[in-house]
Amino acid sequence: MYKNIVVLTGAGISAESGIPVFRSETGLWEHERIEDVCVPSALVRNPQKVHDFYNRMREGLKSKEPNPAHLALTKLQQEWPQKSGGKVSVVTQNIDNLHEKAGTRDAIHMHGRLMTMLCTACHQRWEFAGQSAPDDTCPKCGRKGTTRPDIVFFEEMPYEMDRIGALLSECDLFLSIGTSGVVYPAAGFCEIARSSGALCVEFNLEASATVSQFNYGLYGKASVTVPQFVEHLLKTGEVLRKI
Ligand code: APR
Repeated sequence: MYKNIVVLTGAGISAESGIPVFRSETGLWEHERIEDVCVPSALVRNPQKVHDFYNRMREGLKSKEPNPAHLALTKLQQEWPQKSGGKVSVVTQNIDNLHEKAGTRDAIHMHGRLMTMLCTACHQRWEFAGQSAPDDTCPKCGRKGTTRPDIVFFEEMPYEMDRIGALLSECDLFLSIGTSGVVYPAAGFCEIARSSGALCVEFNLEASATVSQFNYGLYGKASVTVPQFVEHLLKTGEVLRKI
């Protein structure tokens, strides 16, 4: 019987909610260069552009709703503990708030969140739904010009790696949903889980770059495959191997 489950999600789980994935022809980076909006030096060179970019994304989130894949994970998180005595932890690479809107608790946003801001002086963060600007005043320490979107940029260390490592080392089942498997350290999570003895399943439209690390994959839209998998797991305690 599986007990502890770790779910890693990527842009693919939010695609059917209308949030474009990163690596596609219509991807998020089509209109902006990564080096203009998603590296630490961009905040020094052109902070207005960085703030504007994340302001647009934050505003865009207001009309987005979770899809059946997000909702199924919430159901799994709520019902699995009674069934197994274990727990379901969600780790996401996404900066959107769709896991939260779906009711999932304590999702670990390893690449940060659009709905929080960070102060580079006092290192505190706060919930934020508005439009930020480079000369804003930090509501925590009162300094001016030290706030930034709470996003982990390329060249920066993802958040909560110690906690994620501990969860991976105690999980029996690792589910990777809608990620291309090309960005580390998330791309290495399957190997850590497998070396702890977990069964590893990937959910994608097609086999990802890291498919060989997984025990098997379930292919199709996450809004279909994830709810089916969750229903079967909650009903039988067994994993679904074919859709
Ligand atoms: N159902 C399941 N999978 C899907 C769906 C869907 N409806 N739509 C797309 N996918 C899959 C794609 O096949 C692709 O493998 O989701 C994956 C999305 O991959 P990426 O766009 O590379 O997103 P992700 O893996 O989350 O990117 C990781 O890269 O730039 C950084 O920080 C950014 O967190 C991001 C990280």
